[in-house]
Amino acid sequence: MNNLMKAVQINRFGDRSVLELNDIEIPTPTVNEVLIKVKSAAVNPVDWKIRQGYLQSVLNHPLPLTLGWDVSGEVAAVGAQVTQLKVGDAVYSRPEISKNGSFAEYMTVTADEVALKPSAFTWQEAAGVPLAALTALQSLYEIANLQAGERVLIHGGSGAVGQFAIQLAKLRGAYVYTTTSAKNTGLVQSLGADQAIDYHLEDFSKLKDIDVVFDTIGGETQANSWQTLIKGGRLVSISANPDADTATKYGVSAYFCFVQPNREHLDHLSGLANAGKLTVNIDSEFGLHEVAKAHERSETGRAQGKIIINISE
Ligand SMILES: NC(=O)c1ccc[n+]([C@@H]2O[C@H](COP(=O)([O-])OP(=O)(O)OC[C@H]3O[C@@H](n4cnc5c(N)ncnc54)[C@H](OP(=O)(O)O)[C@@H]3O)[C@@H](O)[C@H]2O)c1
Repeated sequence: MNNLMKAVQINRFGDRSVLELNDIEIPTPTVNEVLIKVKSAAVNPVDWKIRQGYLQSVLNHPLPLTLGWDVSGEVAAVGAQVTQLKVGDAVYSRPEISKNGSFAEYMTVTADEVALKPSAFTWQEAAGVPLAALTALQSLYEIANLQAGERVLIHGGSGAVGQFAIQLAKLRGAYVYTTTSAKNTGLVQSLGADQAIDYHLEDFSKLKDIDVVFDTIGGETQANSWQTLIKGGRLVSISANPDADTATKYGVSAYFCFVQPNREHLDHLSGLANAGKLTVNIDSEFGLHEVAKAHERSETGRAQGKIIINISE
């Protein structure tokens, strides 16, 4: 194996011009890591927020940093203590965000954060799952403890997280309201949404007795959501930390979710995918040399699914 690989890195924080395509050394897995030959990766809004330096007070990344925290690929080497994976396994992961990412020909990931890729999905589809779907699963199932028959309001149903949230909420047996644009109404309905609310024209804050609000937008969207909740309801945001005093005022619980790597959750998602119960919509695809264009697409805030980076055949 040649010792060098291509990787998209930043050496300083800033706009898209700080992205560099560099030749760097292929990393060596530690005892509990695997080396993944990356097939596909995906862009998430967190990538360009990190690139801009917005999250540096929390994540404290050393530079240079390889971006990208969704990966599908093949195991190319395993550390001495890794027993559950072997060379050649097709895998996917949302790796730990404090470490180097997946916009590279190879990456090392702690084995506990890696699961077998859904065989029903292409490399591209699989790369589109981990970060967004884990966020939806952990928010709705783990934090909100969404139950069958409950009414859930999912903001941003056409976004990457929103699309998985609609599907997971329906699989739980919930009744799903989702805010979206008219152009995306068909999309969210195809994923199972019971009622699509055009946020440009309709006032979602008139809804009543909602059990769970899943806020992927923040700002005024979150502020106008409190009054929709039933007493004892739950609000989970992934965009802005909800105010505890406001939650108390409305008699509800409120949480912020920051997605965590989790192999068991990925195994669950693989099971759904292989049973034909999970869909991934791909918004667009780019090469490793086009990450700036992929960031540009994500930064519009208009993506209708996952933005994929194709890295190797
Ligand atoms: N805390 C965490 O762990 C975590 C994890 C994942 C994501 N996030 C954050 O969650 C947010 C969403 O992530 P994502 O990957 O789903 O983003 P995304 O795919 O880029 O979302 C784009 C979608 O949002 C919709 N949208 C924009 N403004 C809207 C509004 N006011 N109401 C309803 N829909 C709206 C757009 O539809 P239209 O074109 O129709 O407006 C578009 O389809 C980002 O801020 C991201 O950083 C946080």
